[in-house]
Amino acid sequence: MIKVGIIGFGRMGRFYLKEMLKSPKWEVVYICDVYEGSRELARKLAPNAKVISDEDIIFNDPEIQVVTLTALADSRLQHVTKAIAHGKHIISEKPVADTTENEWKVVEMVEKSDRLATVNLYLRNSWYHHQMKQFIQEGELGELAIIRICHMTPGLAPSEGHEAEGPCFHDCGMHYVDITRWYAESEYKTWHAQGMRMWNYKDPWWVQAHGTFENGIVFDITQGFVYGQLSKDQTHNSYTDIIGTKGIVRMSHDFHTAVIDLRGVTKTERIEKPFGSKNIDILIDLFADSIECGKLHPQLPRLRDSAIASTAAWNMLNDTWKHDLPAIGDQKTLDEILYRRAHMTNGYGLLHQVNC
Ligand SMILES: NC(=O)c1ccc[n+]([C@@H]2O[C@H](COP(=O)([O-])OP(=O)(O)OC[C@H]3O[C@@H](n4cnc5c(N)ncnc54)[C@H](O)[C@@H]3O)[C@@H](O)[C@H]2O)c1
Repeated sequence: MIKVGIIGFGRMGRFYLKEMLKSPKWEVVYICDVYEGSRELARKLAPNAKVISDEDIIFNDPEIQVVTLTALADSRLQHVTKAIAHGKHIISEKPVADTTENEWKVVEMVEKSDRLATVNLYLRNSWYHHQMKQFIQEGELGELAIIRICHMTPGLAPSEGHEAEGPCFHDCGMHYVDITRWYAESEYKTWHAQGMRMWNYKDPWWVQAHGTFENGIVFDITQGFVYGQLSKDQTHNSYTDIIGTKGIVRMSHDFHTAVIDLRGVTKTERIEKPFGSKNIDILIDLFADSIECGKLHPQLPRLRDSAIASTAAWNMLNDTWKHDLPAIGDQKTLDEILYRRAHMTNGYGLLHQVNC
């Protein structure tokens, strides 16, 4: 079993624990968090793990092979530096640091070392994106031309949670910026972004960016946590819509089930399977195999992929300020949203929920 220390035991840290406890490949030896409330929960959920507040105990333990970095991005550079210095392999949450400059420092440090490192760009481990890419590679769409991705939910509201990791187009949207590049197999060339400062918040909380890749493929990405926060019964709208010169393939999900609809040149298919959530079971399984054979599994994203996606997401977000950037709504409505979210027990991306 691979001995691991989890650093940061919030929502994501708990996801890792849950999957690592189920896996025969992993032994969670330590859980570290600076907040006593998180440590208390860790003691309940992982009675066999050592629950600590001093991260150096993990880095100094020669038996620990892997660290899972699930605190916030502002501590990532420090954690990666220590991990490399102490010879640990790394599973990192995104973004891999708190500023673009620090992200590239982290990439450089990891790439100069002989340690294995991956990042949880979870869409890359989803069955539906792999299946759709396979249809594209089989030629079912003709030539790939247009990639359209949309993710709008009544999720993380302004001022909640990961504020330091940027507005939601960066915090969450970088996943879509990354997966779009994964489909295009090319680098971002041009972009234009329109934002909306919903509820008169200082930053855009809805962004639509479109543009081109070096290879001529065009994209449009829409992301916003602005989708009916005060509706009686909440819903979301999340889809991927890929258009080729001859056929199309699209996907939508309700967070429980994902459905792919293919209209290819030789076949029409509809595939419906469980959504798979953050796919952490797949990530840790492939990372365990990577350690076993000493080489990162090709499906797993590298920290460089995360830094590229993060940089591109910042670029697109910053572009919204260069055009008309309206504000609609007011603080009173945002206060109502924050109050409702603070008292919800079942909702989108609630950080205060402690279910493992
Ligand atoms: N890959 C994804 O799909 C995805 C989804 C959500 C969040 N995230 C990322 O995962 C990270 C964690 O997010 P979360 O939702 O779990 O946040 P969270 O606020 O629920 O948890 C963060 C935890 O880290 C602890 N912490 C903060 N600084 C620490 C430090 N220096 N040492 C040890 N513990 C520390 C906090 O006390 C808290 O318990 C963020 O960077 C976030 O962007 C990724």
